[in-house]
Amino acid sequence: MGFAKRLKKQIPADEALLQEAPSSASSDDPARKAWIDLKSQLRNELVDILDAGDLSEDTREQAFNKIKSAVIVIAGQRDLEISPHDYDRLANELVDEIKGLGPLEALIARDDIADIMVNGHDKVYIEVGGKVELSPIKFASDEQLLQICQRIVRMVGRRVDESSPICDARLLDGSRVNVIIPPLAINGPTLTIRKFRKDKLTIHDLVKFRSITPDAARLLQLIGRVRCNVLISGGTGSGKTTLLNCLTAFITHDERVVTCEDAAELQLQQDHVVSLETRPPNIEGGGQVSMADRVKNCLRMRPDRIIVGEVRGGEAFDLLQAMNTGHDGSMGTLHANNTRQALSRLESMIIASPAGSALPLRAIREMISSSVDIVVQASRLNDGRRVITAISEVTGMEEDVIVTQDLVKFQSQGRDENNKIIGHHLGTAITTPNFMNRAQQYGLGDQLLEVMTAINSI
Ligand SMILES: Nc1ncnc2c1ncn2[C@@H]1O[C@H](COP(=O)(O)OP(=O)(O)OP(=O)(O)O)[C@@H](O)[C@H]1O
Ligand SMILES: [Mg+2]
Repeated sequence: MGFAKRLKKQIPADEALLQEAPSSASSDDPARKAWIDLKSQLRNELVDILDAGDLSEDTREQAFNKIKSAVIVIAGQRDLEISPHDYDRLANELVDEIKGLGPLEALIARDDIADIMVNGHDKVYIEVGGKVELSPIKFASDEQLLQICQRIVRMVGRRVDESSPICDARLLDGSRVNVIIPPLAINGPTLTIRKFRKDKLTIHDLVKFRSITPDAARLLQLIGRVRCNVLISGGTGSGKTTLLNCLTAFITHDERVVTCEDAAELQLQQDHVVSLETRPPNIEGGGQVSMADRVKNCLRMRPDRIIVGEVRGGEAFDLLQAMNTGHDGSMGTLHANNTRQALSRLESMIIASPAGSALPLRAIREMISSSVDIVVQASRLNDGRRVITAISEVTGMEEDVIVTQDLVKFQSQGRDENNKIIGHHLGTAITTPNFMNRAQQYGLGDQLLEVMTAINSI
């Protein structure tokens, strides 16, 4: 039986991948049109020569070699004029379509893209330089897109279908992926990819991008060094994980750090790091290990610090317990619009958790105020720029209210001629930071004083 017939019989859905995706280039471009015609001619013939089963087991290089050899044979039989360079290009593009992520491959290869958002087969948005734009890339059909979604979730041993239409997964390069398909997604299969950045941004990059001033960056460095417990708050894609990663650079190399994340995004430079990642439920929906279970388990792993990628449920209670019981310098991120709201969200998470539901509100607030030292707010401004908009400290309780003080605050002052937001980071502390004692214990009291003086002089 020829490959085409076997393919139809065994994995009919994968055939959708063999269809041509409408090109991003203008169809008026004659060279581009000739290229597409050549590729589709070759593709039709390829299916009779190659074996799909073999290709699925092959590495990319093996698949490339097989496809290239097959293309050479077909070109010889059909008298097609193809240059040696074009053999490689053809084989590469055909591997992407048959084995890879089709039209997405071109976007995944681009380092300037932060997010890829696919809303059905004909709308692919990308975030470049903080701005979201519609890309010219399209899939041939929702069916082709669905097959690519299946291919992605298969990498984590899952599949998406009507009974289980949502799945988190990861690409081989570490990029984080969320897939949601109809009937939940009305516009067709919807795919969101947070591209993994190999060259993680550092605090120096953040200063260079004017996300933070050099003095405020030094303040963050001291906060990390003297082992304050830190929460990083912000909206989706505001730069929370990036900032958390920057803060981990200030952890000394003799500390044992345990990290808990849904998808391993942090890249700590220290040697003594144990990284725990979520195990998604298996195909039968079982076997999931919750974030709260992992954070609890961390406490038995003799950590010096615990770092939680994203706090959004019962693990809030366990993280605070860790912060309160000798694991100073622990950190986590959470979704909130400002630093006060971050504390309220933490409170709600604890109230909703099995361990915290029985506690009186005042006890919960006391627990928060005695555990969390600093809350840093990350924001994505509406001109696309990401900025650290506040560094606040928790100073204690006044009656039933948690008291905070802003050490640094970003104040916007309108827009410039390019419609970019103009703003400054201002020092807003009225008293010496609460963590001065701690800084002095680490021999860094003078430095903190110096940094606060510099910040407050603006
Ligand atoms: N200060 C910054 N300047 C420019 N780009 C940034 C900055 N901070 C983060 N980014 C980029 O923005 C994107 C989102 O960052 P990040 O993953 O840290 O956000 P997040 O708040 O953790 O998102 P999510 O809520 O989805 O977890 C990444 O591509 C990252 O490289
Ligand atoms: Mg994140």
